[in-house]
Amino acid sequence: MFDTYTDIFNKRGVAYHEAMQRYPNARDEEFGAMLDLLKPEAGDTVADMPSGGGYMRRYFGSKDIKLIAIETTQAFYDQCVEDEQTQCLLRNLDDTGLETASVDAVVSMAGLHHVEDRLTVFEEIYRILKPGGRLCIADVEKGSEIDGFLDTFVNQHNSLGHEGRFIEDDFRQDLQSADFDITFDNTLQYAWKFKNADQMVEYCTLMFGLDEASPKQVFDGISSWQGYTIYNGSCDMHWKLRFLKCIKK
Ligand SMILES: C[S@@+](CC[C@H](N)C(=O)[O-])C[C@H]1O[C@@H](n2cnc3c(N)ncnc32)[C@H](O)[C@@H]1O
Repeated sequence: MFDTYTDIFNKRGVAYHEAMQRYPNARDEEFGAMLDLLKPEAGDTVADMPSGGGYMRRYFGSKDIKLIAIETTQAFYDQCVEDEQTQCLLRNLDDTGLETASVDAVVSMAGLHHVEDRLTVFEEIYRILKPGGRLCIADVEKGSEIDGFLDTFVNQHNSLGHEGRFIEDDFRQDLQSADFDITFDNTLQYAWKFKNADQMVEYCTLMFGLDEASPKQVFDGISSWQGYTIYNGSCDMHWKLRFLKCIKK
């Protein structure tokens, strides 16, 4: 029987989280790029949808910013750790249960490509944002090397498959239909950082659930799609996402 993406992430979530735990700094540049766009201010409440295991929390540090980490998948929700700044919620993205006009910003990183009805999710985000509030999205661009890596290589070597609805014009149309103004829309390139190629292969095997690929096949898949650079004892895996910033009118 066909697995929904929630079913798939209930199976994949533990390995994904293990990758994030073993190499907590690997995606620092990616989260840093999101913070540069979001520009969180003291006193802000930020909802992260979907939040995975609440990974945004460590990038807020001790700043006076409240994080509402919203997850659709039990396996990720179970990993999310609450503290005085962090609330973890298991909710659908189109029905968060948050009060209208209650959050300053919403962040969404690498998760919207699994959403069937994006417009309904954008309408829900619009509802919970305060007027002037910002929605910052980072996701895979249709036709990019990352699209190829995920929907060709990962799809072939993950027994659960991978099929994403990546960013193209209909994605922007859905944002505009939900009444958002798009004020930033650019591809940003950076690295996922490791000490060596073995770490890069281990990370990708866990994160992308590559249960049907040998380490050599994973290495070759990375080499032929997004690529990597080895220098001074480091291994940078090339990565890029489309970053959009949208404002509630
Ligand atoms: C690649 S992870 C991204 C998690 C986190 N934002 C990060 O950057 O590490 C994809 C996320 O999509 C969520 N997801 C899976 N199926 C979904 C669905 N049908 N609707 C919404 N989110 C879904 C997963 O639970 C997971 O949190």
